Amino acid sequence: MSVESGHPAWYSLREGMTGEGLATVERLVRGAGIFTNEELGVAMEVAEECLARGSRSGYHFLWCCNGCNTIGFCCFGPVPLAPGRFELYWIVVDRAARRKGIASLLIESAEQRILNRGGSVVYLDTSSRGKYLPARRLYEKKRYRKEAVLRDFYAVGDHRIIYCRKIGRPGMPREDTGNRKKITTKTIPG
Ligand SMILES: CC(C)(COP(=O)(O)OP(=O)(O)OC[C@H]1O[C@@H](n2cnc3c(N)ncnc32)[C@H](O)[C@@H]1OP(=O)(O)O)[C@@H](O)C(=O)NCCC(=O)NCCS
Repeated sequence: MSVESGHPAWYSLREGMTGEGLATVERLVRGAGIFTNEELGVAMEVAEECLARGSRSGYHFLWCCNGCNTIGFCCFGPVPLAPGRFELYWIVVDRAARRKGIASLLIESAEQRILNRGGSVVYLDTSSRGKYLPARRLYEKKRYRKEAVLRDFYAVGDHRIIYCRKIGRPGMPREDTGNRKKITTKTIPG
């Protein structure tokens, strides 16, 4: 697991998966209050796959910590057979730490890592249901465009919304990312 330096002392960003990470995924996904047990099961499968196979799993976990307390994570990875396309699979922030910019920071940081891995387009999807309104607002604020709506995809009246953001030119080699505007890390009030 790598720890990023240069951030204010009270929080840090970490990448990787450990046994402790599995328990943290379970705690945060359960505590989010919107996911079903089936969805929790899927999150755990992804985390276990990442623990077992590392980056060969195609999943990258990024954690935001306040001291030794992990307050949020996101998970992203390359879309198979679609060069330069990445997907943001999960993003969850501890209820007690919301509206402080943690999810925004995780997204910005994931995008930077995706750029560094040669990615240029990020996809993510969510549901049209009311309980996903904070997530939709978050994605729109982070300049994700509503690319498609698959009506009644999850259930009648529950549409799948696919968002997309171009973060680099298609086919852009990694070296070209150097003159791209650096993400500024936000100082989050405690
Ligand atoms: C969605 C979620 C990740 C947002 O995390 P967060 O750290 O609170 O988000 P941020 O503080 O970075 O918010 C950034 C912007 O998103 C929007 N937003 C976030 N929460 C919102 C809410 N409850 N209502 C309306 N807009 C909201 C706002 O535009 C906010 O900017 P502002 O605070 O300057 O107004 C968090 O609410 C969460 O974990 N929800 C449960 C899990 C989930 O829905 N995951 C996504 C599944 S698709």
